[in-house]
Amino acid sequence: MNGLNSAMNSDEFLSEILVPVHEFCRFLDANPPAYCYIPLRTDEQRIRVMKSRLFNELRAAELFGTWLRTTPELDVKATMAESAHEEMVHAELLSKRIRDLGAEPFDYKPLPAQIAMFNAMEGLNETCERIAGLSLAGETVANYLIQMCLKSPDVPEWIKQPYRRITQDEEGHGSAPREFLKRYATTEERQDRTRRAVAMRMVLFREYLASLDRWATGKDRW
Ligand SMILES: [Fe+2]
Ligand SMILES: [Fe+2]
Repeated sequence: MNGLNSAMNSDEFLSEILVPVHEFCRFLDANPPAYCYIPLRTDEQRIRVMKSRLFNELRAAELFGTWLRTTPELDVKATMAESAHEEMVHAELLSKRIRDLGAEPFDYKPLPAQIAMFNAMEGLNETCERIAGLSLAGETVANYLIQMCLKSPDVPEWIKQPYRRITQDEEGHGSAPREFLKRYATTEERQDRTRRAVAMRMVLFREYLASLDRWATGKDRW
């Protein structure tokens, strides 16, 4: 090891970057957002949120696909390709559910904070940043919220159904982002970029959830 590399040991580093993510999950536990459907009271609101989340599945698929060519690490590239496919399957499940309820899945106009969140992630140019922003920070919070949704008696069965499938996929590769970051975020520079990507995603996710709360309940119009 060269003396200039003052990178943290990878286990310590990983626990450090997960602290704000887990803190945010605890906050959401006490304040369930519209995103997890728990505070919603009408099917109209629920369909709105599902359309917004359908948009997320598609954008996530696009990002994974877009990054393939510029991700040199073969193991990460292979996982991204699988994830791109998986997100398209999730999009299919949600769009079908929305159609079953007589609504149009693709007339949704993304919220400004949601566009900003994905465009900001699209601008991440390095493997560890991408894994940290989209998968580690984003999917950890999203999966946590799916579990809250599935456990809640306030969420109707027709919403829970597609998310049971989605959650199986996500659990299947839950540890992959952590393993990749342990493997590749091994220099001080990469660790710093990773930390910043997590922080960026948390800021943007928070704003997206707040915007979705206002919009889903009709307090904001877009
Ligand atoms: Fe997904
Ligand atoms: Fe996912």
